[in-house]
Formats: sequence, C-alpha cells, structure tokens
Amino acid sequence: MATLLIRNGIVITATDLYEGDVFIDGEKIAAIGSSLQMSADRIIDAKRKYVLPGGIDVHTHLDMPFGGTTSGDDFESGTIAAAHGGTTSIVDFAIQYKGQTLHHAWETWMKKAEGKAAIDYGFHMIITDLSDQVEEEMDALVRQGITSFKLFMAYPGVFMLDDASIFRALLRTGSNGGTICMHAENGGVIDVLVKQALAEGKTAPKYHALTRPARAEGEATHRAIALAEMADVPIYIVHLSAAEALEMVTEARDRGLPAFAETCPQYLFLSYDNYEEPGFNGAKYVMSPPLRPKETQERLWRGLAFNDLQAISTDHCPFCMKEQKTLGKNDFSKIPNGAPGIETRMSLVYDGGVRTGRISLNRFVELTSTSPAKIFGLFPRKGTIAPGSDADIVIFDPEKKMRLSQKTLHMNVDYNPYEGREVVGVTDTVISRGRVIIQGGKFVARAGSGSFIKRASR
Ligand code: URP
Ligand code: ZN
Ligand code: ZN
Repeated sequence: MATLLIRNGIVITATDLYEGDVFIDGEKIAAIGSSLQMSADRIIDAKRKYVLPGGIDVHTHLDMPFGGTTSGDDFESGTIAAAHGGTTSIVDFAIQYKGQTLHHAWETWMKKAEGKAAIDYGFHMIITDLSDQVEEEMDALVRQGITSFKLFMAYPGVFMLDDASIFRALLRTGSNGGTICMHAENGGVIDVLVKQALAEGKTAPKYHALTRPARAEGEATHRAIALAEMADVPIYIVHLSAAEALEMVTEARDRGLPAFAETCPQYLFLSYDNYEEPGFNGAKYVMSPPLRPKETQERLWRGLAFNDLQAISTDHCPFCMKEQKTLGKNDFSKIPNGAPGIETRMSLVYDGGVRTGRISLNRFVELTSTSPAKIFGLFPRKGTIAPGSDADIVIFDPEKKMRLSQKTLHMNVDYNPYEGREVVGVTDTVISRGRVIIQGGKFVARAGSGSFIKRASR
C-alpha cells in the first residue's frame, strides 16, 4: 500500500480550518496533525494552498439519451473533466424507460460507467413507470446501495409521473429508507404554454424560458413537499432555480419539515438575459428549469448562506451547439435540454461565493461536498477529511486565476456558458482514494479506476 503525506496545507472541512499535514495510507486518510513526523512514499507540499475534501456532484447526466440525442460526455470524458475541476465523486442518473425493470436500467448504466469512470460514482434511479413490482425493486435497490430515486413532475409522455404514483413512491421510501429527488415543474401547464407559443410562431430559444414560468416551478415544489409531508418522508428538490420555489422550501423547513434542495452554478451566475443573446446563441442555455431573472441570484445565495438550500450540484448535461442544439433551430421545444458544468463548479462557487463574502470557506466545503455526502449516504466515507475516510482530497490554489474557455476546459462540448469569465481559485492536485489523478492541473491517471459506490440508506 502506497503512502502519501500532504504537508503544510490549510485543511478545510465543513467545520474546521487549520494548518496541518494529512497522511494517507493506501486508499484512506490515516492521520492528521501538525508537523507529522512520518515517512511516506510521496510528499506533496501544499503551502499556501487549501486542502479540501474532494467535491461531490450529486447531479450529473453522462452518456444520457435525451431529446433525440445523447449528452456529449461519457463516463470517461465527463469524469476526467470533473476531476480537473476538483470533483472526486458523482451521483449520476440511470433511467428506467417505460416497461423496463429498475434492474435493467442499473445494469445499462453500470456498463456505461465500468472501465471508463476516472472517479467514484453512484446512481440515482429515474422511475418513469411505477408498478407493484417496481416498488419491490425499489426496496432491493436501496439494499444494494442505490438509495435515491428521481421523479419528474415535468416532461409529460416522457418522464412525468402522476401525483398518485409520486405519492406511492414517496410512501415506499418511508419503509425502505430511500430518498426521492424531485424535478419540480408543472409539466401540464408548461405543455399548454409551449403549444400556444409555437402556434403563435414563437420558435426562438428564449421561448423555452418564457413558457416555463417561475410559478410553474413554485407550484410543483409546493405540491412535491405537500405530498412528502402527507407521506411523512423527506424530499430533495433538484436543480432549484426560482425564488418562488425557494420560498416553498423555506416555508416547509421553517415548519420543521425535512425538505432539502440543491441549486446549480448556472442559476447563480447566468440569467434570463442570456436567452436574449443574438441569433441562436440562446440555445446554449436551454435547460430545465430555465435561467431566471438576474435578481433571483441574490435570493439563491441567501438560501445557500442560511441553509434553506443544502447543496450545489451541476446538472451537467452537455449538448453541442453544432448538430445537437440545432435540432431545435426552428422550434425551441426540440432543443435538447441541458448544459455543461461538471468541471467549473468548484472554481465558480469559490470565486463568486467565498471571495465575494456571500459564503464562508466552511460553507463552501459543506455545499460542494459534505452536505451532499450526508444527504445521499456517502458520509463519513466521503465528504470530509478525517482518519478513516476515503483519501479523496483536492489541493486548491486560492490565488490562481483561470479564464474559463471551451478551448482549455475538458468537457466534450463545443461551447462553454461562462466563456471568457475570469475566476480566481483553481484546482491544482486531486487525489482519489489515495491515487494522485490530477497534478499541476493535468490528468495523470487512467480512466476506469473509479468504482461504483454503494450508498447508505437513511
Ligand atoms: O435541462 C436539464 N436539466 N437537463 C437534464 C435533465 C434534467 O431534468 O435534469
Ligand atoms: Zn431534472
Ligand atoms: Zn438533471
């Protein structure tokens, strides 16, 4: 077993901040201390750098068929890009298509990931067809480490479930200890608005946003939480974008309900104005829920600071402008929904959150690693720096500058939503279960060394 000593860094967890050394033995953190007198096979000097728990991104879509095409990053390119950005674990979404078993979906997604993933991965299971047999399978999956399920209140005819099915799935997590993740947008209302807009000849990308009102997200969020309250179980709202939805989560939490939610960097740094970019450029930002008015950004930051929002994930789902987004050249409803972000999360949140004083360094770690690890059954194996935890560590240079650009980032997509934006705070070295996989900003490992993570239930 190889040993590794990280010296002189500033170790930051969700609760602590101190100068110290971290000693790694094999895949695990073995000791933490000041001026550790231990010999090691390798020593890394982290002076003036932050030593953080590896980032955990609990919302990615790698190699996912969607909107008549497939997301551009597979488990190899997507996880290498994630590693460059300081993420050492992802939880991706496996899809049960109508008529299929959950087991079939799991097998299909395992084949996509095995031998390709460069970092550790788990799966949430998307349920689109709920029968008695599928409910039993939910129990079996929870026992096997797939402990969360995504349901959709949007995309009628594709992914959307009715309220009765949603309620049954929620009830089932009450007995099996799983967690329901909800895509909360009112799909029926959106469908009517989309048809209306197209009938009026409104085909440009901006109509994607204009037909998905913030209130449609607020209403669905309220309904999702109400259903979870009646089932007496926790709920996790994914990719929350609207102030109207945040109000619903805040109100529920103030009443003591176990309602949790994540937001994503795109909702913190981009806005509706991006849809007004010339030509077909607005298609770069077609995602669901859509980008919201700029004023919403400060509301979301407050939600993050005051724990009404518990996690920042990416919803990484990249589609190239050429040949993929253009499927909707003459009809915004045919633009594949999704955007890239797996690589830029940590730098964007550090630069726009910590450096501006909106969140503390501890909160930065909590939102990007510890809290998602706790909610999704990975803690304390992952999500912190402690003896016995997996040695998933990021050495982060808080002073280094980087200009974000599609040309220098590693995601397999032909544009970047933040093109030209300068960020301060860059991942320097990444260690995944004791192996150095990024060194001086370069990928130095091999794809396929990531493992499936069996997650714990509640
Ligand atoms: O536009 C998005 N968010 N694409 C990915 C699928 C989803 O709903 O998360
Ligand atoms: Zn979704
Ligand atoms: Zn998603």
